[in-house]
Amino acid sequence: MGLAAKLGTAVVLICLWTAPPCAAGGLKTFTGTFGPFKDDTYYQKIFAVKEPATINNAALQITPDTGNPGFNFKNQNGRVMYKKRFKLWVGPNGSESARVGSFNTSFLVNLSPLNNNPLTGEGMAFVVAPDLDLTPRSDGQYLGLTNLNTDGNHTNRLVAIELDTFKQWFDPDSNHIGLNINSVISNATASLNPLGIKLMSNVTAVFYNIWVQYDGMNKSIEVYIANTSTLLGDSGPTPGPIPPRPEKPVLRSPLDLSQVVNQYSYFGFSASTSNATQLNCVLRWNLTVEYFSEKKFPWVTVSVAAGVPTLAVVAAAAVLGFFLRKRRIIRSNSSILGALKSLPGTPREFLFKDLKKATNKFDERNKLGQGGYGEVYRGFLQSENLEVAVKRFSRESIKGQDDFLAELTIINRLRHKHLVRLLGESAFSIVPLLIIYFSSCRIDDFGKY
Ligand SMILES: *[C@@H]1O[C@H](CO)[C@@H](O)[C@H](O)[C@H]1NC(C)=O
Ligand SMILES: *[C@@H]1O[C@H](CO)[C@@H](O)[C@H](O)[C@H]1NC(C)=O
Ligand SMILES: *[C@@H]1O[C@H](CO)[C@@H](O)[C@H](O)[C@H]1NC(C)=O
Ligand SMILES: *[C@@H]1O[C@H](CO)[C@@H](O)[C@H](O)[C@H]1NC(C)=O
Ligand SMILES: *[C@@H]1O[C@H](CO)[C@@H](O)[C@H](O)[C@H]1NC(C)=O
Ligand SMILES: *[C@@H]1O[C@H](CO)[C@@H](O)[C@H](O)[C@H]1NC(C)=O
Ligand SMILES: *[C@@H]1O[C@H](CO)[C@@H](O)[C@H](O)[C@H]1NC(C)=O
Ligand SMILES: *[C@@H]1O[C@H](CO)[C@@H](O)[C@H](O)[C@H]1NC(C)=O
Ligand SMILES: *[C@@H]1O[C@H](CO)[C@@H](O)[C@H](O)[C@H]1NC(C)=O
Repeated sequence: MGLAAKLGTAVVLICLWTAPPCAAGGLKTFTGTFGPFKDDTYYQKIFAVKEPATINNAALQITPDTGNPGFNFKNQNGRVMYKKRFKLWVGPNGSESARVGSFNTSFLVNLSPLNNNPLTGEGMAFVVAPDLDLTPRSDGQYLGLTNLNTDGNHTNRLVAIELDTFKQWFDPDSNHIGLNINSVISNATASLNPLGIKLMSNVTAVFYNIWVQYDGMNKSIEVYIANTSTLLGDSGPTPGPIPPRPEKPVLRSPLDLSQVVNQYSYFGFSASTSNATQLNCVLRWNLTVEYFSEKKFPWVTVSVAAGVPTLAVVAAAAVLGFFLRKRRIIRSNSSILGALKSLPGTPREFLFKDLKKATNKFDERNKLGQGGYGEVYRGFLQSENLEVAVKRFSRESIKGQDDFLAELTIINRLRHKHLVRLLGESAFSIVPLLIIYFSSCRIDDFGKY
């Protein structure tokens, strides 16, 4: 609509109250060190082991491993996922301005052929997925990720790094690493042959350590792989010490996770066999994830625990701003400027274009709800590293400057979650108005105001 365009040149003034304790964007770091997987009772609890995947022989067997004679290893698939979900990004859905957390993972694998089948495949993958489920009929070329019907569909919401040991028509060879986005047809591949690395050997057990590093600031993914020595003991071959990560990645690609995976996602492994079979074993797994806090507004517990008046200890800051249609009106309107600047807190100016960017041009998909005098959008202010709710008032609801200043004063005094309701119900009426609620905690709750 014309409104946004008209507002394009406006300057937004914002009063920032006390800095909220959760204002840092609520970014936290999770670190998990898993394996060796001897205690399968424990790991069965913290992992979702999707049959026929199992945990045995001190390893995650992503496709089944069993001594049962007559077991059919063909056309199997499986997943083993860590049960905890992570909020991986914040900001407008599908927008380049989303803030994405980083993650690093490293894992030790042993892929091995089955004696009675000279045909080996298909492969396994490290996966970031929207749920803990195993995709049905994801055997064969689908690596436990997708199937004939879903492959390539953006609703899969998954990213995977494949270790592929079977050449399909879309593969470069039968010994490569690939970046898979919603599809087993990789977006980028790297053959391991030039490195002298064979993912699988029919001569001896081979162990490889793989590192996957995702940089959420740079929005890029890197994969490294190193050979790990094989120790031959009485109980069979075991891996030697884990080598340091090589200097050079074998694969590197730009990747904006926020454009692909769900805001809340899971990490784990998937694998499949076809007529070609192999064992897909993970022996150790490290996972470090930067994620965004899911915490609700902290102030209720804070104030109750502290036993002091609730209004005094509101944890989230509310930010209120307004803008005039033309910049010079603001510049000349010293009474508004003066009033804003005299309010306690730090008056801030935000350019309208930054708020527009924060909400991905007031994208419908980011709309949280409709209040009395305007619409509320989810946004992410990159400069502040803050998730925000932006209220855009309709120009029709604008009456007088005094009303606005009166409301401003009241709002400034209130430091309570009901502040939001008051804002929404008040007849702000001087100029087209933007109100920003700063909170990294529960933006979703603001929609109804
Ligand atoms: C983002 O959009 C996709 C589809 O476009 C949807 O599946 C997903 O739930 C949305 N995420 C959020 C956080 O709104
Ligand atoms: C991942 O590892 C790199 C070093 O290789 C480090 O700079 C980065 O901070 C790590 N990221 C996380 C999320 O641990
Ligand atoms: C996991 O991290 C520990 C501690 O940094 C390290 O000693 C170990 O080699 C790592 N394991 C893998 C599989 O990378
Ligand atoms: C993608 O999957 C969704 C739901 O599974 C389905 O409704 C849609 O038709 C699929 N789209 C394509 C192009 O296959
Ligand atoms: C990945 O590949 C799919 C299918 O080829 C394509 O739709 C998508 O745009 C690609 N994404 C990237 C980031 O290259
Ligand atoms: C291993 O496989 C190669 C070809 O893939 C074959 O020539 C060789 O005989 C096999 N070795 C054993 C011990 O099976
Ligand atoms: C970001 O990526 C570029 C190349 O893709 C690289 O040169 C640069 O060092 C990276 N920056 C950081 C902070 O990792
Ligand atoms: C891997 O390590 C083993 C044992 O150290 C060595 O025999 C083999 O040549 C190495 N392979 C490669 C490709 O480096
Ligand atoms: C699997 O093997 C059977 C029997 O050897 C053969 O008939 C079938 O075509 C094979 N399937 C595939 C997908 O290669």
